Amino acid sequence: LRVVVLISGSGSNLQALLDAQIAHLEIVAVISNEPKAFGLERAQQANIASAVLNHRNYADRASYDADLQQLIDQYAPDLVVLAGFMRILTATLVEHYRGRMLNIHPSLLPKFQGLHTHERALAARETEHGASVHFVTAELDGGPVIAQVRVPVLPNDDAETLGARVLAQEHRLYPTTVRWFAEKRLALGADGRAWLDGAP
Ligand code: GRF
Repeated sequence: LRVVVLISGSGSNLQALLDAQIAHLEIVAVISNEPKAFGLERAQQANIASAVLNHRNYADRASYDADLQQLIDQYAPDLVVLAGFMRILTATLVEHYRGRMLNIHPSLLPKFQGLHTHERALAARETEHGASVHFVTAELDGGPVIAQVRVPVLPNDDAETLGARVLAQEHRLYPTTVRWFAEKRLALGADGRAWLDGAP
């Protein structure tokens, strides 16, 4: 399975995927919109091709996504994995990768779509929080959820301690769901729902 991973920052989820050494999975490229993303170092350490497409060089989202799609497709991926990728993708690009683009979001979707999820969970006095892996659709953080992991919110948590607890679980959840895709156990049904085994 040929996988292209998109990052914007540290790339700890990329690293988790690399460390998992998933059978039949080859990460063929890492693409970042941020030139200084540490995840690019991780790609180089792993001898994986990497590229930067800096969104600051583009006047609008549509022209950026047109070049991004062309760049991704140069690597002929079977799956595109968003891992800490902090760009909102246009419906055109998302539709092009329908059923073969995943994202991980640090909340128990549909709660807390968007940014600053840990602060918002604390503000809402949630007793539990977590992360979700979903198929990417045009709705931001709104695609059909494949799997989730839950963590407790502890009394003296702040965004940093809670975020670290969630991130540690992301590093388990993402390799698991990407492995399911590699094993052809996971599909986005025509009904718009994620199917694990017994796909429709
Ligand atoms: C983290 O906030 C994580 O919850 C989310 O993206 C951010 C950075 O992830 N998925 P990474 O370390 O760049 O993979």
